[in-house]
Amino acid sequence: MSREEQRIVNDQQSGEEWEHSEDIIRDRKRSKQMHQHEESGLELSQIVFIGRTFEEYMLMFDLTREELAGQNILDCPGGACSFSGQARKLGAHAVASDIVYQYGMNELGTKGFQDIEHTMKQIQAVQGMYVWDQFGTIEGLRQERLRAITDCVEDMRQHPECYVATVLPELPFNDEQFDLTLSAHFLFTYADRLNFDFHVRTLLEMLRVTKHEVRIFPTVDLTGKRYEHMDELKVFLEKKGYLLSEVRTSYEFQRNAHTMLRIRKPSL
Ligand SMILES: C[S@@+](CC[C@H](N)C(=O)[O-])C[C@H]1O[C@@H](n2cnc3c(N)ncnc32)[C@H](O)[C@@H]1O
Repeated sequence: MSREEQRIVNDQQSGEEWEHSEDIIRDRKRSKQMHQHEESGLELSQIVFIGRTFEEYMLMFDLTREELAGQNILDCPGGACSFSGQARKLGAHAVASDIVYQYGMNELGTKGFQDIEHTMKQIQAVQGMYVWDQFGTIEGLRQERLRAITDCVEDMRQHPECYVATVLPELPFNDEQFDLTLSAHFLFTYADRLNFDFHVRTLLEMLRVTKHEVRIFPTVDLTGKRYEHMDELKVFLEKKGYLLSEVRTSYEFQRNAHTMLRIRKPSL
């Protein structure tokens, strides 16, 4: 796989990534023209539209409700998550971006509900890869995934302008437009198909659009191993003046995926 081919991964095989369907791979030139899916070549059948809830994000990123109000927050990639919609209700200016948002909410909603049912069947075979304290059972997980997508699609209906189609490692936002950028289950998770260069470029782009801090969850790959280039990445970003720390959080579903990477910009 060439470097240029490694920029789009099919989803939700994170956290619930037992199923190894083919990656969605398209070249950079076409990705740049992804305003319409006919041009990007991203097929709806190739995506899996499942998301996590606001409450999961709060635990993953060690956030409190009080600190959301008044903040400009980017969730990238946002998938079918309910974080940004709920954060907006608490007074945040929250935007989600993801390659899948080139599709309409109706198409995504239909696909997402099918994906949840398919996923729940698949997970039975690999239950041991997960920690069930939070969800209890597969049915408990199913209910939470249904709640996330229902809230997400409802919010998309009300605030379509807050769901911005993007193809990483590029972001169509202004410098320091957001106070905080959150990124879950993408970088590090898919280290088997997103190379080091892609990680660096994506992080630098996230830092460009962020004023204060970028948080990435988790710090492990799909096998539960700490990202193999983490130390190299930290040295690279620290040399640029950023402040990095790996912080244990109280969220763990994929076994061993309980730590976030905080990247702070030094205050002037
Ligand atoms: C595993 S999901 C994570 C979604 C969400 N953050 C969560 O934790 O549930 C990965 C997401 O990355 C999106 N994605 C994959 N490649 C992308 C790219 N190059 N640019 C933007 N989004 C991408 C997928 O569409 C999918 O929604």
